[in-house]
Amino acid sequence: MKKCKSNRLNHLFIIIMLMFILACSSGNRYKWLSFFFDDVPNPNAKIAKTDSLQADSSKSAFNARQIRPSKPLYIFHAPYQEKACDDCHDLAYSSRLLQPQPQLCYQCHEDFKEQFAVLHGPVASGHCTACHNPHMAKNKKLLKRKGQQLCLYCHELSDILKNDVHQDIDNTDCTECHNPHGGEDEYLLN
Ligand code: HEC
Ligand code: HEC
Ligand code: HEC
Ligand code: HEC
Ligand code: HEC
Repeated sequence: MKKCKSNRLNHLFIIIMLMFILACSSGNRYKWLSFFFDDVPNPNAKIAKTDSLQADSSKSAFNARQIRPSKPLYIFHAPYQEKACDDCHDLAYSSRLLQPQPQLCYQCHEDFKEQFAVLHGPVASGHCTACHNPHMAKNKKLLKRKGQQLCLYCHELSDILKNDVHQDIDNTDCTECHNPHGGEDEYLLN
């Protein structure tokens, strides 16, 4: 009886030790961090780098599953993919930004004020991340939403359709006619 009990205690001890060891592995640190922060890069995730796809294709069934075209792949923002978090954030694991937008983005991208006579409202007010995800997105150009949805997030379709020019647009992307950042005049036409 007594022996049995101490065995059970031993098992308990081993389990607790294992829990400690596991808690320190990077996978768990990710779980831990991602509990507090969205978008902490998962160290276990296969990054959808286009140039490594061919190279990896022979490796394993797991990789093959990752590159099946039916699965939407994330497109990564270059500095995020290079883990240059401190280009935008003040500390490696802090979400505090070095500067407000749009200056944050104009560190590396040309100021739209130099390109356009008139700026689109959210561009002028520095709401780049109303349309772009700063880290990664499933849509091209890091866009948060596709097609007209990108614009109808803020503009009411019923208002848009009041204008005759929009009578026959159906599902045409708004960006077929409008520049999302700015233009020659208030209508931001391409
Ligand atoms: C190009 C600039 C840029 C880079 C590089 C960048 N971030 Fe961010 N990050 C942002 C911006 C901007 C926000 C705020 C998002 C918003 O306003 O919608 C943000 C928000 C966050 C947040 C808060 C949660 C969230 O998603 O809103 C975390 C956590 C974070 N980033 C982690 C990281 C980590 C980790 C890296 C490096 C692997 C990284 N970021 C690289 C710009 C960047
Ligand atoms: C540290 C430099 C840096 C900062 C800061 C930065 N970017 Fe970028 N961004 C890049 C680089 C490098 C590329 C890739 C350029 C290329 O492929 O021509 C890029 C590409 C992009 C693209 C195009 C992505 C694609 O798939 O073609 C968008 C959109 C973008 N950035 C938006 C932003 C926004 C919004 C911010 C601010 C929140 C920002 N960037 C801040 C460096 C930066
Ligand atoms: C109203 C939505 C919207 C806002 C706000 C916005 N963008 Fe964009 N951005 C777009 C769209 C749509 C595209 C894709 C245009 C295309 O494919 O021709 C784009 C493309 C880009 C690109 C890639 C250009 C290229 O030719 O590859 C960069 C860089 C970029 N945006 C930066 C910014 C920055 C910086 C801000 C804030 C100052 C910003 N954007 C605000 C919608 C927006
Ligand atoms: C984050 C919110 C937001 C998003 C997303 C957005 N817009 Fe806007 N848009 C605004 C604001 C704010 C104004 C300025 C309104 C004003 O000055 O009365 C504006 C103004 C405009 C104007 C000029 C209207 C005028 O009468 O001067 C056009 C054209 C326009 N947006 C088109 C678009 C298109 C096309 C898209 C998608 C690519 C888009 N918007 C996405 C907020 C947004
Ligand atoms: C076929 C080209 C075309 C498409 C597609 C288009 N627009 Fe326009 N839009 C125009 C033109 C041209 C004007 C200038 C209207 C004028 O001169 O009165 C305009 C004006 C506007 C205005 C300002 C005047 C108003 O009616 O409020 C807004 C806002 C606008 N468009 C948003 C959008 C949005 C959002 C979409 C997508 C759902 C879109 N447009 C799709 C051509 C287009």
